Amino acid sequence: MDLKLTNKVAIVLAASKGLGKAIAMALSAEGAKVIIGSRDEDALNQTAAEIKQLTGNDVIALPVDVADAAQVTEFINKAASTFGRIDILLNNAGGPPFDKFENFDDEQWQKAFELNLLSMARTSRLVLPHLQKTGSGRIINIISGSVKSVLAGSVLSTAMRMGVVGMAKLMADEFGPYNITVNNVAPGLILTGRIKHTLPADIDYDEAIKQKAKTIPLGRIGKPEELAALVAFLASEQAAYISGQTIQVDGGAGRNIY
Ligand SMILES: NC(=O)c1ccc[n+]([C@@H]2O[C@H](COP(=O)([O-])OP(=O)(O)OC[C@H]3O[C@@H](n4cnc5c(N)ncnc54)[C@H](OP(=O)(O)O)[C@@H]3O)[C@@H](O)[C@H]2O)c1
Repeated sequence: MDLKLTNKVAIVLAASKGLGKAIAMALSAEGAKVIIGSRDEDALNQTAAEIKQLTGNDVIALPVDVADAAQVTEFINKAASTFGRIDILLNNAGGPPFDKFENFDDEQWQKAFELNLLSMARTSRLVLPHLQKTGSGRIINIISGSVKSVLAGSVLSTAMRMGVVGMAKLMADEFGPYNITVNNVAPGLILTGRIKHTLPADIDYDEAIKQKAKTIPLGRIGKPEELAALVAFLASEQAAYISGQTIQVDGGAGRNIY
């Protein structure tokens, strides 16, 4: 299927590694011009070069901390002037720490708010005028399966991502008249650096991976490109009538019915 992304301009945030990188790769492979952002400039440049080499399409690296208002404003301005348009915004960020509710203080709540909710509101607001011009804009937010099914220790993540779900629903409502769709993608367990760091050090790597996958119906942890494939579809013209949704990519792990 031709996703008709050739020459569309996509911003992919938190994209030097993990899910963001796989998404940037998938959009670029479908012909989009991609602008990637994250904090570590060297890692970002390396990722841009790697994607460009594999796909042959334009990939621009612009360093940004998505939690920093001034940096984000500068990033979006530069991104908009690079190719003269923005068609797709992929909101993503690092995840907040995991712990019990009682162990988080105000400062940690504030940080999680700025990183995982306010950042997505801010980028969406700044990109909106550009998407309104294209007449077929896409906003896709990476959140977490914890918005559907309780995950122990994920109170910061779940609270902020529930905010994104509510925000996206209202954005879908308000932006529909501009032909802009807004959707969330909720990963279950997808094998990235973030997940590798949580594996117990005292057991063999393969065994640790096997144990993590025990409760997943498909019997394995997901691959970043499996989530990226859904994002590429949501970004496509074929997905023009899907909006306001939260879609899980979790191998069947979420036991929620709704
Ligand atoms: N992988 C999973 O199974 C899974 C499951 C549920 C939810 N999620 C969520 O999905 C998101 C991505 O996870 P991942 O597994 O891809 O993580 P990852 O492999 O650790 O990659 C995180 C990426 O985010 C960038 N980043 C972190 N903080 C940033 C900031 N303040 N500004 C800009 N970029 C930033 C990092 O680059 P720099 O450090 O250079 O900035 C890196 O490129 C996270 O929010 C995570 O909680 C993942």
